[in-house]
Amino acid sequence: MFLAHLLRDAGLAAVVLEQRSRLYVEGRVRAGVLEDGTAQLMERLGLAGRLRREGLVHGGVTLASEHGVFRIDFAALTGRAITVYGQQEVMKDLFDAAEARGIEVVFEAAEVMPHGIDGERPHVTWRADGAEQRLDCDFVVGCDGSHGASRSVIPPGALTTYARDYPFGWLGVLADAPPAAEELIYANHERGFALASMRSATRSRYYVQCALDEAPEAWPDARFWDELTLRLGPAGGGLTRGPALEKTLAALRSSVTEPMRFGRLFLAGDAAHIVPPTGAKGLNLAVADVTLLAAALAEHYAERSDTGLDAYSACALARVWKAERFSWALTRLTHRFPAEGAIERKLQLAELDYLATSRAAQTAFAENYVGLPLESFSLGRG
Ligand code: PHB
Repeated sequence: MFLAHLLRDAGLAAVVLEQRSRLYVEGRVRAGVLEDGTAQLMERLGLAGRLRREGLVHGGVTLASEHGVFRIDFAALTGRAITVYGQQEVMKDLFDAAEARGIEVVFEAAEVMPHGIDGERPHVTWRADGAEQRLDCDFVVGCDGSHGASRSVIPPGALTTYARDYPFGWLGVLADAPPAAEELIYANHERGFALASMRSATRSRYYVQCALDEAPEAWPDARFWDELTLRLGPAGGGLTRGPALEKTLAALRSSVTEPMRFGRLFLAGDAAHIVPPTGAKGLNLAVADVTLLAAALAEHYAERSDTGLDAYSACALARVWKAERFSWALTRLTHRFPAEGAIERKLQLAELDYLATSRAAQTAFAENYVGLPLESFSLGRG
């Protein structure tokens, strides 16, 4: 949807094919942290009206462990901030504006399939209203996630995937209760990771690390609140319990597929890379991808130059890998790994102590958390 808005801004026509219904996408709870660059892009595209009113601007985050609690001050270290605003709210804003601006979005498009991506004139087919539909186009962009059709039409030998599944999951709870603190709390506890986040002044969002084979039903509200209270420790002193509106388990995975292009098919977002939710980079990475891609497509039409399109994959990947690295490192720093023992635990705590006391380490954390700058085509990569 960001890409459709960016292309429209450049005077280019695009059609968005969405497998789900609008209601489904707008109701699906996802992470809720916008990097500085993502919030700025919404501003630039004229999509930030509600974000400005309802988004919660945070100038830092708190980290907690048995060694203590400390804050990393993004504003002081980078001059930038993050905005807490649910991804589903972003989707509502994108859909509303698309409707108002005449951007075509087809919902409930079934069996979407790109064809002829290695030729000059690809097309896409799908089923809607009981009939086969077809769209001929110049380019196809696969923004259809890791299980989408786009990747499946690329010859397997043309892609390399680097992936790791983590040996635990996150149990997420959306609660009708005021947040535990004004900012997010990432807690490393002997019993596992916990995260305190929020959606508004009256709605909180919490996560606890749990075993992959545990069902959400094994976590009645009382067990969840007791465990969360324990893991947040003194940092969670302001925790208020309330009714759980939603409880879901998510697996954690790091994965990158290279390159992000085959012929006239470009991959963006989860279709090319997955991050664990630690650090909330998923949506932000997808936005960075399509920002690069939109500029490259605009250049293709305006200047008849494919420099940007040819550099897209290498350029996007240069930033993707750094976000993968950060999400990986933050996951390693804050979670309990079942196969690891006393020495790994000591090393984790030492790294947290280092982060608590070193301005250099905090600056590195902060610049990654608020979002690294876009890589530019002029770097001559790829
Ligand atoms: C969320 O608010 O859902 C959230 C925040 C930070 C994360 C992950 C999820 O790292």
